[in-house]
Amino acid sequence: MSSALGIDFGTSNSAVGFIKNGIPCLVELEDKRQTIPSAIFYDTEENAVLFGNEAIEFYVSGCEGRFLRSLKSILGSSLINESTEVGYKNILFKEIIIDFIAHLKKKAENAAGHAVESVVMGRPVWFVDADEQADILAQAHLEEIARRAGFQNIIFQYEPIAAALDYEQSVKQEELALIVDIGGGTSDFSVVRVSPDSRGKLDRKQDILANAGVHVGGTDLDLKLSLEQIMPLFGYKTRTRSLFPGDAILDLPATYYRELATWHKIVFLYNNRALQSVKNIHYHAERQDLAERLVRIIQKQEGHRLAGDVETAKIILSEQDTAAVALHYVETGLVTSVSRRIFEGDIEKEKERIVSKIHECLKQAGIAAASVQTLFMTGGSTAIPLIANACKHAVPAARLVAGNRFGSVGMGLTIDAGLKFGNGNKAIG
Ligand SMILES: Nc1ncnc2c1ncn2[C@@H]1O[C@H](COP(=O)(O)OP(=O)(O)OP(=O)(O)O)[C@@H](O)[C@H]1O
Ligand SMILES: [Mg+2]
Repeated sequence: MSSALGIDFGTSNSAVGFIKNGIPCLVELEDKRQTIPSAIFYDTEENAVLFGNEAIEFYVSGCEGRFLRSLKSILGSSLINESTEVGYKNILFKEIIIDFIAHLKKKAENAAGHAVESVVMGRPVWFVDADEQADILAQAHLEEIARRAGFQNIIFQYEPIAAALDYEQSVKQEELALIVDIGGGTSDFSVVRVSPDSRGKLDRKQDILANAGVHVGGTDLDLKLSLEQIMPLFGYKTRTRSLFPGDAILDLPATYYRELATWHKIVFLYNNRALQSVKNIHYHAERQDLAERLVRIIQKQEGHRLAGDVETAKIILSEQDTAAVALHYVETGLVTSVSRRIFEGDIEKEKERIVSKIHECLKQAGIAAASVQTLFMTGGSTAIPLIANACKHAVPAARLVAGNRFGSVGMGLTIDAGLKFGNGNKAIG
């Protein structure tokens, strides 16, 4: 028997599923978890490759090797053709994503008990904001990656449409729904007519009224939280000192702080050139005590650990007014606290970009906000009260349905894989 997989390769988390005895199921990827962090660790001591939480654990425990996360963000950029040092080798980012996708494929094949050659892969509405050429190129890269990971038949589906297919499984009557998927890298929206009678229908062109998306996601919010409330502890926003009479006093360059706070760019700091540059910044810094921390974290390659701690603090801020961040690995006894009030103020622009894209999506669909009957929300960043409330505000008459925050898209892609490939390898429709 052959079948197809649905793969949600997310910026932060990934999932894979297949139809088992007629029912769409997500595969248990790690312990009993159906989603794993989109993280990979090349352990150069043991010459092993680790994935998901295991990759994070190995990296944080200080094993020698190279850690990477948020690789999806590289897809739409020129970085896709670059490589990173892993031990004595250089590995292309493309090859690293192939390793990750091949891992998901293998896990699913083990669970299914047979090889699978077909896949429906999720994709954001825009890999690159409103740039058609770059977007086509990004999808072509992902297609090549899927092929080189061993798939022969590859179909792409918009992530919010996948979420709509998942939601449709439970509807009792026809509804006009706004699907909101705010993840780690992008915010994606669709206006879709869902109905119990449409389940299993292949051609949904008439039901999909609009798709829209914008490159704003949880990783951008991590960046904001880090720059505004954490990086100042590393000397960000401080100035140079006067070494000689008449020296101009300047702000310390922001570049290295931004890279350290941007998930997919951290890896570019782990080389001698970057280290020499930050040592130079340290030399010129007025607050050498703070800049020394910047040198230390890059020297020890703990940038991802710091980004992980910032992300954890952000997640706590969805529930609490403040969150403690312990940075003992930077300096003994260094502990700070971040504030929700300040965070909410700092992400106002990101919130506005999300809201205006929702309005654009409704306009594209040719409907008034008041006609949306259901607001279906999925994606980790919809847990942020400020963001969730702004989405609710945009469609005030809609009933709110909270989807499985991390599994909806993967489940919808699996449903779609079942529809499009049936039991064979040839795509239907
Ligand atoms: N409770 C929470 N509060 C705030 N943010 C959260 C919470 N839980 C998860 N997140 C954030 O949600 C993001 C991950 O969500 P999700 O897994 O839906 O994204 P993804 O599918 O990997 O990304 P994308 O679809 O954009 O490629 C991360 O930025 C994470 O920090
Ligand atoms: Mg997602």
